[in-house]
Amino acid sequence: MAIIAVLDFGSQYTQVIARRIRESQVLTRIYHYTTSAAKLESEGVEGIILSGGPASVLAEGSPRPDSGIFNLGVPVLGICYGLQLMATMLGGKVGSSNRREYGRGHLKVNTKDCPLLVGVPQTSRVWNSHGDKIESLPEGFMQAASTENSGFAAVEDRGRSFFGLQFHPEVVHTDHGKEILNNFIFGVCACQKNWTMSGYIEKAIDEIRQTVGDQNVILGLSGGVDSSVAAALLHQAIGSRLTCVFVDNGLLRKGERAKVEKLYSDNFNLNLKVVDASAQFLATLAGITDPEAKRKAIGHVFIEVFEEAINDIGNVQFLGQGTLYPDVIESVNIAGNPSAVIKSHHNVGGLPEKMNLQLLEPLRELFKDEVRALGAELGLSKEVLWRQPFPGPGLGVRVIGDITVERLDILREADAILEEEMFRAGLYYKLWQSFCVFLPVRTVGVMGDERTYDNVIALRLVESIDAMTADWAQIPNNVLQIVSNRIINEVKGVNRVVLDISSKPPATIEWE
Ligand code: XMP
Repeated sequence: MAIIAVLDFGSQYTQVIARRIRESQVLTRIYHYTTSAAKLESEGVEGIILSGGPASVLAEGSPRPDSGIFNLGVPVLGICYGLQLMATMLGGKVGSSNRREYGRGHLKVNTKDCPLLVGVPQTSRVWNSHGDKIESLPEGFMQAASTENSGFAAVEDRGRSFFGLQFHPEVVHTDHGKEILNNFIFGVCACQKNWTMSGYIEKAIDEIRQTVGDQNVILGLSGGVDSSVAAALLHQAIGSRLTCVFVDNGLLRKGERAKVEKLYSDNFNLNLKVVDASAQFLATLAGITDPEAKRKAIGHVFIEVFEEAINDIGNVQFLGQGTLYPDVIESVNIAGNPSAVIKSHHNVGGLPEKMNLQLLEPLRELFKDEVRALGAELGLSKEVLWRQPFPGPGLGVRVIGDITVERLDILREADAILEEEMFRAGLYYKLWQSFCVFLPVRTVGVMGDERTYDNVIALRLVESIDAMTADWAQIPNNVLQIVSNRIINEVKGVNRVVLDISSKPPATIEWE
């Protein structure tokens, strides 16, 4: 299959480049910038994109790719830092600009027939973020477009199929970015559209069957998107040789366990083992109030319970996991001395080694949006695929302070009301998360003629793209009013509801 390689120089947009191209049905993989030309050639890359990055090519020790990539005979597109690298490495000159150009710029196309700019109007808006400036182009290159601050906003060496952009085509603020990327992959690299979810399913099912043979797989199902899609895919591939384990840790939302049982056992006819370990979790958590200590305790008990479940099931050789592509990309860390850090994603810790299980990660090639598309092809509903994120430690990190059954029950009731009202108001899918937090304080209230001294529920309603940053959501007052009235009237033990109006940073989304 055709691959476009994105060499990562540490730009915050590297993954966005890959996602944009995959949206056009061309497989794109992200490679560490040190990846050798030989390796890229052996992977069969049909085009190379050099990402942007925070470094300056003028700085000593700034990250450079293998110069052999320019001799592979495949087209290269340099974006921002990638363009400056290309200019420097091929004999041009880069100087530091006296004006850093951030944000919007206006692109003016100067040539009529640059293959990269086909369909891009004479003038359009682009998104810049760079400091250095090209002073002279390498031999063979010519200017193709300019902005206010840069004569070399787009450059080309048509003979060698080398192109460069000083702006970011991958961000939505660049009007015709998508066309420019498509021009590169289809017009210049001549890639075929063969990255589709139905194609992926076929290939993945084949591979899973070959790998697993007549052996057995276990998978921890959380009810979240990733494990649900992984389960559906594995089930399609190997049917009853997959057993899913759902652990009821006593920290679940109202009705969650029944929902999971109904969906997977009844509808999907999947081998589901539900383990009720709530007593074990709650006993371990008793008296623990420190957030990190809670998280650790919950993680430990989970491993114990899961291990026991594997032993009970017996004859299991593989552990299925919903690991996604962003978790396996080698991250580029540029701070003077670039070092490669491999992020690993083992939410069951050292279990695979300890229990001699091989990992099976059928989603490790996919971005989240692709996982959703895959899940939809496999017949999972919008309710499953577009559920708001829910933390692994569950309500354990939403009951502040001591975790007790009484507090969990209060939180569950309040949270269910909030969720219902978010759906009713059409806000559930618009927000990143909307949930309740139980606060371990009691305050005075009055109900009828009686004085009350009860608990406080905080509402956490946030908008976010990726949970790295978040804003508190401004939702209509009448919705807040309904939620507040209903929680106070319907949930025994609550007489006050407050709204969290903190953004992340400096606050986090969860309270613990
Ligand atoms: P914070 O609170 O760090 O949360 O702003 C960022 C996002 O991550 C979710 N979250 C977790 N998810 N296990 C998870 O699977 C966890 O331990 C965990 N802690 C936080 C949180 O809900 C938010 O979407």
